[in-house]
Amino acid sequence: PRVAVVFGGKSSEHGVSCLTAREVMRAIDTDRYDVVPIGITREGRWVLQPGEPKVLEQGGLPELTEDGPDIAISNDPRRNEVVVRESASAPASIGSVDVVFPLLHGPWGEDGTLQGLLEIAGTRYVGAGVLASAVGMDKQYMKLVFAAEGLPQLPYVVIRPREWKDDPDAVRESIASLHYPVFVKPARAGSSFGGSLVREPAALSDAVALAQEYDPKVIVEAGAEGAREIECGVLEDLTGQARASVAGELVVAADQGHAFYDFEAKYLDGSTTLRIPADVPDDIAQRIRGHAVRAFEALGCEGLSRVDFFWLPDGRLVINELNTMPGFTPTSMFPQLWAASGLDYAALVERLIALAMA
Ligand code: DAL
Ligand code: MG
Repeated sequence: PRVAVVFGGKSSEHGVSCLTAREVMRAIDTDRYDVVPIGITREGRWVLQPGEPKVLEQGGLPELTEDGPDIAISNDPRRNEVVVRESASAPASIGSVDVVFPLLHGPWGEDGTLQGLLEIAGTRYVGAGVLASAVGMDKQYMKLVFAAEGLPQLPYVVIRPREWKDDPDAVRESIASLHYPVFVKPARAGSSFGGSLVREPAALSDAVALAQEYDPKVIVEAGAEGAREIECGVLEDLTGQARASVAGELVVAADQGHAFYDFEAKYLDGSTTLRIPADVPDDIAQRIRGHAVRAFEALGCEGLSRVDFFWLPDGRLVINELNTMPGFTPTSMFPQLWAASGLDYAALVERLIALAMA
């Protein structure tokens, strides 16, 4: 079978996706699968990408360059074809693909938009469908679904752009009821882009402005001070039953100047360690695994998800969020959780492709 791996993308998580894709492509069994690497540049051009994405000198993460042949996915469901246009006037086909592996994080990739394109094209793909992807990308709607499912969460406030403009005092008042510190985040982004920990009302405006650079809709969450961050992988078995991995804990070195698990701590400076399995009592681990599967099913996810929790100093366990395409390098939390649960990286990649093709 031919597998198109799609990566990069227009979102702020472009580099994370390139990093992931490189590792996934290395892990795919090339005796079984023919891999077609398709990059999406930051500008949104689809390019056939036979080489490995270049590593930026500055940022430390790989990055696609804007050169390379354009491609388009045919929207003819009978032909199910990926078409390479070497030039606008001379389209050349690279043939059909059996399955697409959308290894994209963030908007225009993990949010249902690409999934919709693939549905229209009649192409099978790895992971969540349109609705679960869209809900998983929008923290407001994700919280509504979690609440409907009865999953415990921290209180939060949604700031819509007009409310913030028209009546900032009312918005500030409802945020004050969360008690500072609070987290301010774009509603639809990932990898902590645009997020800040705000300790006092005076710092709110800047934090909202920063978040709004990523999304006009902003979410403010109670700060979860002193919470431990525990994550759990969910993966379908070959019968389609969602299974939870062991739980793992993120430990951010306190002396590295990170107020929270921010982008630098996540990807760049090695200040985060993963403790797998998480050093928590059995009953907490069991609740985490149960909640993770419930969250997966409540959103109608498919294939895989990583579900993130806070375990608060007062003993409460709350769900933070679910990611339908979690970071996926061999050292990322999701594959590590599965490795510790008996499924190594190559087997995990194989499972996801097999599920999509089933
Ligand atoms: N959004 C990043 C990739 C994650 O959740 O792992
Ligand atoms: Mg997320």
